[in-house]
Amino acid sequence: MSLVLQHTDLDVVGAELSVDLPDGTTVPFAHLDYAATAPCVRAAADAVQSLLPWYGSVHRGTGIRSQTSTLEYERARDLVGEFIGARAGDTVIFTRNTTDALNLLARALPPEATTIVFDGEHHANLLPWRRPLRLPTPASPDEAVAAVERALRGVRGRDGPGLGALGLGGPGLGGPGLGGPVLVAVTGASNVTGEIWPVRRLADLAHRYGARIVVDAAQLAPHSPVDLATLGADYLALSGHKLYAPFGAGVLAGRTDWLDAAEPYLSGGGASTAVGAAAGDVTWARGAARHEAGTPNLLGAVSLAAVCAALLRTDRAALHEREQELLGRLREGLAGIPGVRTVSVFGDRQPRVGIVSLALPGHDTAVIADRLAREYGIGVRAGLFCAHPLTRRLTGDTGTGGCGSATPGLLRASFGLGTTDDDVDRLITALAELTARPS
Ligand code: ALA
Repeated sequence: MSLVLQHTDLDVVGAELSVDLPDGTTVPFAHLDYAATAPCVRAAADAVQSLLPWYGSVHRGTGIRSQTSTLEYERARDLVGEFIGARAGDTVIFTRNTTDALNLLARALPPEATTIVFDGEHHANLLPWRRPLRLPTPASPDEAVAAVERALRGVRGRDGPGLGALGLGGPGLGGPGLGGPVLVAVTGASNVTGEIWPVRRLADLAHRYGARIVVDAAQLAPHSPVDLATLGADYLALSGHKLYAPFGAGVLAGRTDWLDAAEPYLSGGGASTAVGAAAGDVTWARGAARHEAGTPNLLGAVSLAAVCAALLRTDRAALHEREQELLGRLREGLAGIPGVRTVSVFGDRQPRVGIVSLALPGHDTAVIADRLAREYGIGVRAGLFCAHPLTRRLTGDTGTGGCGSATPGLLRASFGLGTTDDDVDRLITALAELTARPS
């Protein structure tokens, strides 16, 4: 049974892909790497296909191609805004992906802003911040909230001893009473463990201290409704390619004031409303245009919006339930394989999206992933998942490795639309066989 039963617009393009195995058999390809990038769904492919005859210059022409393209681009913005519950006063900016979106926000922060972030974040939400206050990854949601509260008190110099006394200060952050804008940056769901973070609690806490919060929704959005107001988020970032629309668009949405006060993310046409002959004589646009210089990615935006619209029409509670069944099936199967350990930050009971990472002591996860692909026709990811501090902590590793490094990291299976019981069962069987072999 497939995760999607009747929503043809959410059918996976290429679901019938098969692979030839060394033993001469042919099997359906079991794609279990949705957390890295999701396959395209029909809604996205159809949106691109039907717009192509009309494709033209967005915001820049009078002909029918340009007018249609401009209309569709802005319609896409509205649809994506609806999907994430953009409020009056929020700006919805099309970016390339989540990394781009969070870099944009980092560049738009007031210069004296401090960003509080846990070290278990994906690099996209760890590295862009200019004045980061990095907290060690907590062992529970309660600890996460307590750690952020201590940090907020330290930054605010209120009801607390200041960062230096807490041992949290870095260069320029050691003194009490620093004040200034504060942003809490947190993932909605971990790309390593799939665990859901206590975003709402952190948002309420941040707001009590006059801080703001940005949610990296790259992994949450494909699995769960992401509504700015429900999450309590000031900003939200997501990637189209993880949301079944692999045409190069992502989104940053949220409060307009910092975005409008910031230098444009890119300088150029579209971001400028008037330019004089003298260097520096330029009036920058406000709103999304300020940060969308150059010809925008129309097909990316429109395909992403088409998926958002399809998901809005879908019973997401049923999808969630089905995904939890698959997760349960996988975890039950894995529990019967000696030496396979599911990793987590908050413990096995923490709700998670369809992502499971495994430690395979005594085995090279890269080798196992390679054998899964070649011998079993199963696609997973092995390595450090662009979240080195967290993955190293979970594996007890102290070495160095690149973003795609597969040793000695974890092995990750991740689900999405189109994942079947059979995919899960084949992974369990294959892992049992591979880990039973001498490495
Ligand atoms: N962020 C993506 C992953 O976790 C690439 O695999």
